[in-house]
This record gives sequence, structure tokens and C-alpha cells, in this order.
Amino acid sequence: MNQNLQTILDFIQQSKHLSEDEKATLTKAAKDADKALTISEFKLVRTEKVKRTTAILLEETIEELEHKRKAIEDSNNALQKSLKELKATQSQLIQSEKMASLGELTAGIAHEIQNPLNFVNNFSEVSKELLEEMQEELEEGNLEDVKEIANDVIQNLEKILHHGQRADGIVKGMLMHSRSNSGEKESVDINNLVDEYLRLAYHGLRSKDKSFNAKLETNYDDSIKTVNVVPQDIGRVVLNLITNAFYAVNEKNLLQETQGDKYEPTVSVATNTMKNNIEISVKDNGNGIPQKALDKIFQPFFTTKPTGQGTGLGLSLSYDIVKAHNGELKVETKEGQGTKFIIKIPII
Ligand SMILES: Nc1ncnc2c1ncn2[C@@H]1O[C@H](COP(=O)(O)OP(=O)(O)OP(=O)(O)O)[C@@H](O)[C@H]1O
Ligand SMILES: [Mg+2]
Repeated sequence: MNQNLQTILDFIQQSKHLSEDEKATLTKAAKDADKALTISEFKLVRTEKVKRTTAILLEETIEELEHKRKAIEDSNNALQKSLKELKATQSQLIQSEKMASLGELTAGIAHEIQNPLNFVNNFSEVSKELLEEMQEELEEGNLEDVKEIANDVIQNLEKILHHGQRADGIVKGMLMHSRSNSGEKESVDINNLVDEYLRLAYHGLRSKDKSFNAKLETNYDDSIKTVNVVPQDIGRVVLNLITNAFYAVNEKNLLQETQGDKYEPTVSVATNTMKNNIEISVKDNGNGIPQKALDKIFQPFFTTKPTGQGTGLGLSLSYDIVKAHNGELKVETKEGQGTKFIIKIPII
């Protein structure tokens, strides 16, 4: 019992002024008070214990949190590092996509150069023969014939010059294409540019796959004047879209052949002027783009082509190029019927 209460209790017991009843009542009160005091003391000890365990737990939690913070920091650093690596890989891939489209172009270019080269060779040969003839006529003194032959030779040389210049233009175009990103805007005849790349894409594909064939439709708006663009960049967009269109009709064609259905693979290219914009559209009657894929086609690396056949960068690069010209690249498609891509570029 508490020392103070014990003293009070002893005092009550020995008191001569209290009756036995009063003593009993007071003794009970003192004992009750002692009980209450003991309980309070016990509670206090318990609270103290809880407080100590809580403090220990808190310390542990803080330590654990610190661990977790460190782990997050570490994984953050790792993420940063792999992001850097990813960016490097991406730019490497973009570079190799550029090289790949250059490869596609080369086959087309070889075909395009072959034509003027044939002209140059043939006309040179004929001119040589004509000059030999001229020598004979000179010796015989037939001046009228000499004059006629000289005229023919002059005409031939003009043709040689014309075709030589054409080959020169093609090679220059090729060099421009391979020079990456240094492109500056210049005043360009859009119809000419589109037609040039259409032919390059077509012959490029034909030279890789002799069985490939498609009907080509062109509809150029002659009222289009020159437009300020980076020619090799817009050329690349056109090449990408046309290559995709040819791929789509070719795929459908192969499928229809196995089913014995009649189908004419057709790719149509058109230009248009609309108020302050020009539009270049590339349309095909392939199988269209399923809704599921439509949201993703402009994402880098999205492709449905078999591994090794597509990088999935064609449309994302095209999108960036058109955006850089303050333009828009839109797509309309119907499953099973075909797809139309529209490039819209402001004139000013
Ligand atoms: N004309 C089209 N018809 C049907 N699907 C198309 C057409 N154009 C694009 N696609 C779809 O969009 C995807 C992405 O096209 P994108 O040009 O970006 O890459 P890719 O053609 O697959 O590869 P890459 O152009 O790098 O060779 C294609 O794989 C195809 O599924
Ligand atoms: Mg493509």
C-alpha cells in the first residue's frame, strides 16, 4: 500500500474520536483510493512502454523509408541512363532508315539514268557515222549534202546535251537526298517533284520485284505555282507514302490471286490547290488500315510488316517533316477498300 495512505489508515485505526462504523467507512475509502492509485500507476507504466515501442517502430520506419528513397534514386538513375541509350539507338535507327530509303531510291535512280544514257550513247554513235559520211561528201565536193549532214549533227548534239542534263539533274537530286537534314527551303515545282519521286518509287520496287505491277493514276493541278519547301524532305514523304501504298496493293493482290478473285491494284497521286494551301494526296485500293492500328501508325517503330521489311519509321518521319513545314498529314481509310493520305502545306 502507498506509504501516505498507510499513515492515514493507521491514524484512523488509533483515533479515539471515531466510532467503529466511521472507522470502517474511512478505512474502506482509503483502501479504494489505494486501489485506484495502483491502477493509475500500472496504466502509466503501460503507456510508457507503448511510447518506447512506438519510438522504436518509428525509427525503424524512418530507416526503411530512407532505404526506399535510395532504391528509387538508384532506379531513377538507371532509367535516366537507359533513356539516354534509347535516344542514341533511336537516332541510329533514324539514320539507318534514311540509308534504307536511299537504297530504295538508288534502284529507281539507276533506271532513270539508264534512259538518258541510252540516248546519249545512241546519238553519239549516229553522229560519229554522220561525220564520217560528211568527210566523204566533203572530199567529193557535195556541199549541199555536207550542209544537211551538219544540220543533223547539230540536232543530235542538242539531244545529247538535253539528255546529259537530265541525267545530271537526277544525280544532283540523288545527292540532295543523301545529304541529311542540311536541307533548306527553296522554291519548288511541286508537280514535278511528286512525279519524279513517284517514278523513283515505282521503278525502285519493280527492280526488286519483277512481278510487281500496279496501275498508276496521276492528276496534277496545273494551277499550282512553285511552293517553298525543303525538296528532298517533301520528296521523302511522298516516297514513303507511295511505297506504303504500293506495298498495300501488292499485299492485297497476292491475297486475291490465291482466292482467284479479280482485282486491279491501283495507286493514284494527285495535287490540288485549296485557298492558302496545296494538297498532295496518295490513294490506294489496298485493304485499308484496321481501326486498332490507325491510332498507332504515326508512332515511331509501329509496323505490321514482317521483321526486316519495315522499321516503322516511314510515317513518323513523314509526320515530323510535314509538321516542320507547318502543314498537316491526314489519313482516310476504309477497311477492305483502301487508304488515302493527304499532305497539306501552306503556300506562304
Ligand atoms: N497505305 C497503307 N495501307 C495500309 N496500311 C498502311 C498504309 N500505310 C501505312 N500503313 C500501316 O502503317 C504502318 C506504319 O507505316 P510506316 O510507313 O510508318 O512503317 P512501315 O511502312 O511499316 O516501315 P518503313 O516505312 O519504315 O519501311 C505499316 O506497317 C502499315 O501497317
Ligand atoms: Mg513505310
